[in-house]
Amino acid sequence: MRIIPTGETLGATIAGVDLAKPLGARDFAEILRALGEHSVLRFPAQQLDATQLKAFAGRFGALEINVAGTFQEPGHPEVMILSNIVENGRPIGARDAGQDWHTDMSYSETIALANVLYALKVPRRNGVALGGTEFANMQAAYEALPADLKTRLDGMTVLHDFNKFWEMMRQRPGSWRPPLSGEQRRKKPPVSHPIFLTHPITGRKVLYANPGYAIRINELPERDSDEILPFLFEHQLQPRFRYVHRWAEGDVLFWDDIATLHNAHADYGPEEHRLIMRCQVMADRIFDPAFVRAALDERAAAAQ
Ligand code: SIN
Repeated sequence: MRIIPTGETLGATIAGVDLAKPLGARDFAEILRALGEHSVLRFPAQQLDATQLKAFAGRFGALEINVAGTFQEPGHPEVMILSNIVENGRPIGARDAGQDWHTDMSYSETIALANVLYALKVPRRNGVALGGTEFANMQAAYEALPADLKTRLDGMTVLHDFNKFWEMMRQRPGSWRPPLSGEQRRKKPPVSHPIFLTHPITGRKVLYANPGYAIRINELPERDSDEILPFLFEHQLQPRFRYVHRWAEGDVLFWDDIATLHNAHADYGPEEHRLIMRCQVMADRIFDPAFVRAALDERAAAAQ
């Protein structure tokens, strides 16, 4: 296995791993460590079915079944289809998933560790791949915050609401999204998380507030929260923290949802087809120090 960093603020390619086969303990440990270090990992030229994708993603934590309950791969509710393809008059996938800045599942009591996306079709125009996914580095964004703001916000929490992003997407022309039902809203009530999280793999602090779901800094008066949240959103999206992944068919992209924000570029037309399978990995195991230690010890042992 070779890890080739992009040389940018985020990202590395991992070559020499066949994700269709079960991961050995050493590869698992290398990948976990690389996820902490580079946050966005590309595994090129993979050939997977839904079962194999789930098996890889499921090594890192429990897999989420999306609350919207739509566009699931038949027989595999943990695998969601993201696509603009229409067959027999019906869309086969969510065509607008993630098309603005957000962090998946920050709205959930148990947050996400990671997303795993597998590209089956990539839109192209004049030979150039479209529909890239852009990321922003929240370890770097935390570090670059003004010192007095870090001190002021330390220990505070942010309220995240699933409905914020849903409604934002629903307002866009031609949206397929109905309003969330009462039942769906009850399943995902707004939840709070620390504004600064300590990353469970790197031990570094991250800024954990994103424009897609964050609605309020709980401990501040509303007026102050309404000033500081937009400041944080602007700060975290500076070009110096950003990296774009340009897809190729067969890419598996495994990214850290604790340390990044992302945004799926909607720069392709209805006849330029994009087809992706997605699993979302919960952070139900990663905050257990024994889980991380056991994985990384395995790597150290293998290196001896
Ligand atoms: C997502 O936000 O999970 C989708 C990202 C993408 O399709 O590039």
